[in-house]
Amino acid sequence: MSKRENIVVSKEDLKKQQVFTEKVRKILEDRYKDTMPMAHVHSYGCQQNISDGEKIKGMLALMGYGFTNSTSDADLVIYNTCAIRENAEDRVFGNVGALKHIKKKNPNMIIGLCGCMMQQKHIVEKLKKSFPYVDLIFGTHVVHELPQNIYNALTMDKRVFNVPDSDGVIVEDLPIKRDGTIKAWVPIMYGCNNFCTYCIVPYVRGRERSREPELILNEIKQLISEGYKEITLLGQNVNSYGKGLDEEITFSELLRRINALDGDFRIRFMTSHPKDATKELIDTIAECDKVCNHLHLPVQSGSDRILKLMNRHYNREQYMELINYAKAKIPDLSFTSDIIVGFPTETEEDFKGTIDLIKEVEYDSLFTFIYSKRVGTKAAEMEDPITNKEKSERFQYLLDVQKDIGVEKYKKYVGKTVRVLVDGEGKSGEDYLTGRTDNFIIVDFKGDKSLIGQFVDVEITQALNWALLGKICE
Ligand code: SAH
Ligand code: SF4
Ligand code: F3S
Repeated sequence: MSKRENIVVSKEDLKKQQVFTEKVRKILEDRYKDTMPMAHVHSYGCQQNISDGEKIKGMLALMGYGFTNSTSDADLVIYNTCAIRENAEDRVFGNVGALKHIKKKNPNMIIGLCGCMMQQKHIVEKLKKSFPYVDLIFGTHVVHELPQNIYNALTMDKRVFNVPDSDGVIVEDLPIKRDGTIKAWVPIMYGCNNFCTYCIVPYVRGRERSREPELILNEIKQLISEGYKEITLLGQNVNSYGKGLDEEITFSELLRRINALDGDFRIRFMTSHPKDATKELIDTIAECDKVCNHLHLPVQSGSDRILKLMNRHYNREQYMELINYAKAKIPDLSFTSDIIVGFPTETEEDFKGTIDLIKEVEYDSLFTFIYSKRVGTKAAEMEDPITNKEKSERFQYLLDVQKDIGVEKYKKYVGKTVRVLVDGEGKSGEDYLTGRTDNFIIVDFKGDKSLIGQFVDVEITQALNWALLGKICE
């Protein structure tokens, strides 16, 4: 058997799960008679998790569950957790704690936890010991075994734990209940091989593995035929897409093939790792009209010393070379990034390097994080003499610097007309709609709700800190 066949979950295994789906359906029909059992599924963390959550909901719908936003009228609660930073984990523990009282009122309620936190032994131990009312725990590599897990939770008089150690699998053809009707997430690869020293993802998501291009294209064709207008391709490092596939294919080639599909839709992708992002990628963005003029290129730090300690495999000069190439090639390309403040041993000098870099690139916006120690990672072993107070001050300073850059950038849009995909009601007042430009900027404007899901041209009248205001062009 080839290595690849070991990675892709077989049709027979999925059939077994279908049998469990039917069994669960019968049990629920017997138990709930004329009422519909309700599930509350909440995903924390990145789009990868959100995408898994949509599959979980897809499987639950086939089992006969309806869905509720509230935990108090739920018969099944599933929290799909994130382990990226301590505050993400704390939030989950807080919310699981709150379920204790709700379960007292509704003892038949099943509480299930899955996602990245569950792939950490110390977390599962803590849940086993201190949260006895949690009924079901399953890991990121066995999401497709949900029917069997729910069956066991419903029929066995003991708690269910299903968290195998694994390098990870690919599961095709799972049912998906998508959260939206306009924008869709499409994973093109799973896992990560990069082991950035601060990051837990490679430990909880397994090794990097790519989906077959044909299957990705088919999924996207289907989405377009259903009326989706924006497709975001997901992977921890999309630029290394294709490794391990029989067919030789790069991420740029995949983008070109998706771009060639008929229909009025946009393509986004995340995340690009700077060590693998190439000039060819920039050329591809330039040449493909459906690929958005936006590049999320997380730099993490502007100090070469820190980048080395982070195991990022690029330096500031290489990063800036790509940014400058992109700026020259696509003048209205917008850049966003992730920044970690307070990585172990980060000095004022290192931090200044990050500030200088931010000013040089002129990002449209940043996702900024204070370093959080993750059990089992290399950075967790590093000495860290920097106080939390210093880290918080740096963090605040960075936000202020970026705010000024953002405001200046946004001002330049006043008087211009931009194309916006309307995705909902806006926060700027009554009758306002909101959407994003091709280059990822939020635009609020007055308009009729019937425009939601359509592309409209908007003339920008005002720049706010976080968004643009405008009016629809007649
Ligand atoms: N694969 C993506 C990032 C996924 S995690 C990439 O390489 O760009 C999203 C972001 O969370 C990271 O870019 C990083 O900025 C942040 N992050 C990850 N681990 C962290 C930690 N331990 N503390 C603080 N921020 C962290
Ligand atoms: Fe984490 Fe680095 Fe992998 Fe991104 S590339 S998921 S930051 S290890
Ligand atoms: Fe969090 Fe897991 Fe994503 S740790 S950021 S949900 S891959």
